[in-house]
Amino acid sequence: MRIGVLGTGTVGRTLASALLSGGHEVRLGSRTTGNEAAVAWAASIGGPASEGTFADAAGFGEIVINATAGTASLDALALAGAELLAGKLLIDVANPLASSNDMPPTLTVCNDDSLGEQIQRAFPEVRVVKTLNTVTAALMVQPTLVDGAHAMFVAGNDAQAKSDVGELLQEFGWPASSIMDLGDITAARGMEMYVALRLRLWQTAGTDVLNVEVRAGG
Ligand SMILES: NC(=O)c1ccc[n+]([C@@H]2O[C@H](COP(=O)([O-])OP(=O)(O)OC[C@H]3O[C@@H](n4cnc5c(N)ncnc54)[C@H](OP(=O)(O)O)[C@@H]3O)[C@@H](O)[C@H]2O)c1
Repeated sequence: MRIGVLGTGTVGRTLASALLSGGHEVRLGSRTTGNEAAVAWAASIGGPASEGTFADAAGFGEIVINATAGTASLDALALAGAELLAGKLLIDVANPLASSNDMPPTLTVCNDDSLGEQIQRAFPEVRVVKTLNTVTAALMVQPTLVDGAHAMFVAGNDAQAKSDVGELLQEFGWPASSIMDLGDITAARGMEMYVALRLRLWQTAGTDVLNVEVRAGG
């Protein structure tokens, strides 16, 4: 399958590499074509890995992943283009952190709304599924980094889209029994607010953070 990944940070590149390992074709999207991190990533892999603008990646993907900074996700998706995204499954893994440096963190939206909902409202023809935002990038694509059963949440308004995301999650190694459907996209509120607890655990648990965050999260 062709998958467009919007976001050249750790999360975008981690997901893109895992998808390639699973046999998918991937294009990494950025504000500009020739983004240094994206070019280096594509060059290190070759073959079915490519890079371009957000619009290039959105047009390329049958599925599109939003792995951009939460404060910039609506802008990044606007650059990708509503027409190119229309009808597609959009996997939203972003957290609406006001700044990646604030500790304790603050969110730009929470409580009675969420980034996932903002995206779904701004792009009504896109089938948004929120998932993976509750764990560290490495764990997103390798749940066995932590022993034992632990949960991965999905939320969205479209049942088929959530089912398709479940298949991708299983490709990453999440057992079907670990995937918990929390219902419609309003469940993104709790999933996003969880980042405050996760970052506090990261602050206090040090190198054991993977174990602690997963036990707490699932
Ligand atoms: N790090 C983790 O372990 C983790 C875990 C769970 C969820 N998340 C969430 O995943 C997302 C990605 O995190 P990350 O650490 O990989 O990367 P990040 O630094 O949060 O985001 C990088 C991406 O955001 C884009 N961006 C930044 N400012 C922009 C703007 N003004 N307009 C348009 N695009 C802009 C960048 O575009 P360019 O490519 O053009 O620079 C880049 O592609 C975030 O929402 C984060 O909260 C992260």
